[in-house]
Amino acid sequence: MIFVTGGAGFIGSNFIHLWLKEHEEPVINLDKLTYAGNPDNLLAINQHPNYHFVHGDMGDRQLLAQLFAKFKPRAIINFAAESHVDRSIHGPADFIQTNVVATFNLLEESRHFFAYLSDKEKEGFRFLHVSTDEVFGTLEPHDPAFSETTPYAPNSPYSASKAASDHLVRAWHHTYGLPILTTNCSNNYGPYQFPEKLIPLMIAHALQGKPLPIYGDGKNIRDWLYVEDHCRAIMTVLEKGRIGETYNVGGLNEKTNLDIVEIICHQLDKLKPAASPYSSLITFVKDRPGHDRRYAINANKIMHELHWHPRESFETGIEKTINWYLEHEEWVANILSGQYRHWLEKNYQDRVNNI
Ligand code: NAD
Ligand code: DAU
Repeated sequence: MIFVTGGAGFIGSNFIHLWLKEHEEPVINLDKLTYAGNPDNLLAINQHPNYHFVHGDMGDRQLLAQLFAKFKPRAIINFAAESHVDRSIHGPADFIQTNVVATFNLLEESRHFFAYLSDKEKEGFRFLHVSTDEVFGTLEPHDPAFSETTPYAPNSPYSASKAASDHLVRAWHHTYGLPILTTNCSNNYGPYQFPEKLIPLMIAHALQGKPLPIYGDGKNIRDWLYVEDHCRAIMTVLEKGRIGETYNVGGLNEKTNLDIVEIICHQLDKLKPAASPYSSLITFVKDRPGHDRRYAINANKIMHELHWHPRESFETGIEKTINWYLEHEEWVANILSGQYRHWLEKNYQDRVNNI
C-alpha cells in the first residue's frame, strides 16, 4: 500500500480520489486535521475498502513507527504541510514545526523502516516529497523560468520552511541512501481548495458580493496548474522518476493576479449574473510583505524524461473549478461558518473594509 501524509487537504484529497479511481492498491492517509484538513473532502470515499484514515501528527515518531510496522507501505508521499504564505507571515512557528521538524521525523522513521526491508522491498520503496516552486524565490519579467538547477532563494517563512525540508530530503538520500523523489510544483487550483487561497477566495467573495482584495498592483505573476494534472505528475514521478532526482511541475500558464480575477468575474457574470458585473467588486489593497513578483516553471525534464503533460488548459480547468464551487456552496459555507472567519479578520481588516 501507499502511505500519504496530509491527504485531507486540497492536493492530498484530490490525489486520493484519483488514486482510488485508477489503482487497486490501498492508501493510508495520516492527517493531523489542522484548519486546512477537511474530512468533508473525503466523505465520498470514507467507506472505500482500499482507504484507511489515521488522525495524527506526522511529527509523532511513535505513531509513525506503529503505522509503518502495521501497514508496511511500499511508498510514502508527503503532502502534509502548513501551506499558506500569508499565515506564515502572521505566525511562522507552525511552519517550522510541521514543514521542517515533522518532515525530519518522517524522514527518520522512514529511514529506520527502510533499513529493515529485504533487498527486493528496498528496490521498490520510494519516499516522494511534494514541494513548491516558491523555494526558487522570485523572477524578473524576462528571466528564464525556474529549472531543477535554479539555486534556492526562498523569500517567505513558508518557502524557507519548504526549502529546508527539500534540503533534508536530499540529504537523507545522499547520506543514508533513502530512495527519494522531490517534485516542485507551481500554483494549483481546482476542487477542495481552502478558500484562503486566491482563486477559491475570489469565487467565494464574489458570490457573497464582498470586495475582491487584490494585493498591491495585481501584476504579480503565478503559473497555474489544474490540481488533477499535479496529482498525475506525482503518480508519474512515483512510477518512473529516477531515484534522488527532483522534477519541476508547471502548467505553462503564466497569468497576473488581476487577469485571474477578471477571468473569474467574467465567467461568473455568465454563469450566475448579479445586479452589477462582479469586476465592480475588485479592490486594490495593501500588498503582502516580501511579495514575490513572478514565478514560472520550466517543466521540460518531467515532460521529456517521463512524458507527463498537463491535460487541462487554464480555460478548461478554471471552468471546471468555478462549476465545482457553484455546485458545492455548502462545502464553502461549512468552512466560512467556522474558525476561518477569524483568519479573514486578521489578514484583511487593515487592508479592506466589509470583509
Ligand atoms: P493544504 O494546506 O490544503 O493541506 C495540508 C494538509 O496537511 C491538511 O490536511 C493538514 O491537516 C495536513 N497537516 C498539516 N500539518 C500536519 C502534520 N503535522 N501532520 C499531518 N498532517 C498535517 O495544502 P495543499 O495546498 O494541499 O498542499 C499540499 C502540499 O503541496 C504542501 O506540501 C504544499 O507545500 C505543496 N504545494 C502546494 C501547492 C499549491 O498550490 N497548493 C503548490 C505546490 C506545492
Ligand atoms: O507556487 C506554489 C505555491 O502557491 C504553493 O507552494 C503554496 O502552498 C500556495 O499557497 C501558493 O502560494 P501563493 O502565495 O502563490 O498563493 P495564494 O493563493 O495565497 O496567492 C496567489 C497570488 O494572489 C499571490 O501573488 C498573492 C495574491 N493574492 C492572494 C490572496 C489570498 C491576492 O492578491 N489577494 C488575496 O486575497
